[in-house]
Amino acid sequence: MRIDIITVLPEMLDNFINLSIVARARKKGLVEIVVHDLRDYTEDKHRRVDDYPYGGFAGMVMQCQPIDACISALTAERHYDEIIFTSPDGQKFDQPMANELSLKGNIIILCGHYKGVDYRIREHLVTREISIGDYVLTGGELAAAAITDAIVRLLPGAIGDAESALSDSFQDHLLSAPVYTRPRDYKGWLVPDVLLSGNDRLIAEWEQQQAFERTQRLRPDLLEK
Ligand code: ADE
Repeated sequence: MRIDIITVLPEMLDNFINLSIVARARKKGLVEIVVHDLRDYTEDKHRRVDDYPYGGFAGMVMQCQPIDACISALTAERHYDEIIFTSPDGQKFDQPMANELSLKGNIIILCGHYKGVDYRIREHLVTREISIGDYVLTGGELAAAAITDAIVRLLPGAIGDAESALSDSFQDHLLSAPVYTRPRDYKGWLVPDVLLSGNDRLIAEWEQQQAFERTQRLRPDLLEK
C-alpha cells in the first residue's frame, strides 16, 4: 500500500512517519508513506499556496493550482483508489472506515488548512472527505496522521501479535477488557485472580464479560450498532 500526504507543514508529519509501528511497517515494506510539501508545486514566486476568498469573507483559502499540480503529478505515476480531504465537514472516521481503507492500494490524503481549500478541488478531484471528530483543528495534519496510523496498524504484519489488531477496542463494537502486567500486587492493588488461574476458558469468559460491562457503562451507543 502507498499513502501520499499533501501538506503545507511536512515537518509536522516527520516524527509520525519515522517512529514506532508506522516506521517499522515502512521498513518492512508493508506501506510506503510519502509526504509532499504543497509549496513545491506552486507557480507563485513567493511560494504562496493561498489567497483571499472571493466574496470578502474572512481568512485565506488554499488555491487550486498547487493542489491540482501535486495531485496530477501523483496520478500521472499511478492509480489512486481514493483522494481524501481532511475536513470537519467530512464523514466521521471510525474503525469500519479504517478497515475499508486498509484494503486499498494507493491513497492520497490532502490536509486542509487556513479557511479551507478552493471548493473546486473538492468538487473535481477529491473522492472522499473525512473528519476525525466534531471539533476544529488548525490543520488537517493531525487528522491525516490519525487516519494513517489507524490504517497502517491493520496491515498484515504491522503489529507483532497477529491477534491484537483484531481484538482492539471497536473491532467488534466492544471496548477492550482491562489488561495487567507484573507485579501481581502493587501497593495492595491486586490483579484479578482469574487472570492468574491458568484456566483459558474462565479467562476468555472474564474478558468477554469485562468488555461488555465496560462498553455498557462507558459507551452504550456502541451496543446499539
Ligand atoms: N481539519 C480541521 N479539523 C478537522 C477535523 N475535525 N477532522 C479532519 N480534518 C480537520
